[in-house]
Amino acid sequence: MSEIRLSSEKRLRLFAGRGFPELADEVAAELGIPLTPTSAYDFANGEIFVRFEESVRGCDAFVIQSHTNPVNKQIMEQLIMVDALKRASAKRITVVAPFYGYARQDKKSRGREPITARLMADLFKTAGADRLMCVDLHTSQIQGFFDGPVDHLFALPMLANYVGSKVDRSRLTIVSPDSGRVRVAERWSDLLGGCPIAFIHKTRDPRIPNESTTGRVVGDVQGQTCVVIDDMIDTAGTITKAVEALFDAGAKDVIIAATHAVLSGPAIERLKSSRASEVVITNTLPISEDQKFDGLTVLSIAPLLARAIREVFEDGSVTSLFDGHS
Ligand code: R5P
Repeated sequence: MSEIRLSSEKRLRLFAGRGFPELADEVAAELGIPLTPTSAYDFANGEIFVRFEESVRGCDAFVIQSHTNPVNKQIMEQLIMVDALKRASAKRITVVAPFYGYARQDKKSRGREPITARLMADLFKTAGADRLMCVDLHTSQIQGFFDGPVDHLFALPMLANYVGSKVDRSRLTIVSPDSGRVRVAERWSDLLGGCPIAFIHKTRDPRIPNESTTGRVVGDVQGQTCVVIDDMIDTAGTITKAVEALFDAGAKDVIIAATHAVLSGPAIERLKSSRASEVVITNTLPISEDQKFDGLTVLSIAPLLARAIREVFEDGSVTSLFDGHS
């Protein structure tokens, strides 16, 4: 007698956009699975074509794309991949955006402005994404912009453990480059044994992108080793001005630690010529060979992404990756 068997086994599949394939390869290696073969190319007018070369029916799909420069293209490609997966009957689709583009516009600072962080979430939802996975969102409330589960991963423990292993913790101060990141500085302090925190009083003219005026240091940094932290380094204006302000206020040494190395325009030159002794970043975004310099340390985010993907796939706990409890 012939029979029909239904397979209830879940199948994990990993898909990579063209934004940063090396990171996707690293994640795949950590997970011990291959990337699903995917064809992608641009039409003459810049439109993107994507096709998966194997059946994806019923799979648990994770689509990795870092929103690197050119950011609009990478986002559009990821949206198109999600659309293709939805139309090919993937069972569940998770957008993995280690760096979530357009996150800085998360509220209206003035009238007649967009909220692009919300627009991005809506676009992914409309394309067919069931969930999002991101690292160090610009602000935590962006999680609420997406109508579905968001796995918000933190690079902080990895960065803090690295920095903590290199410095004298009794002379350490964690510095937020603006008042908005003081809570993150507190989490660094908690992880590093309760060291003091300080912040920079930063003002910004909302009409001029990537331009900030660094004011005074709030807190005592005299003779201290300061770790100035940020979610991203774009043109490096914010962070290098903070470094100068800290030395002017008597700091003995300054280390820069940030998750997302956007590194636009003058960033590399600014970092190289800053007096910071070390710049520690992660590879949520690609760093080319010619961007590397002495004193730059790149920590890989791939093991964390792989562990989180495995937890989601196995219906485990992503929270346990950060608090040690299931
Ligand atoms: C601002 O709110 C962000 O957290 C970063 O401080 C900022 O985007 C960094 O930009 P830049 O490196 O161009 O100063």
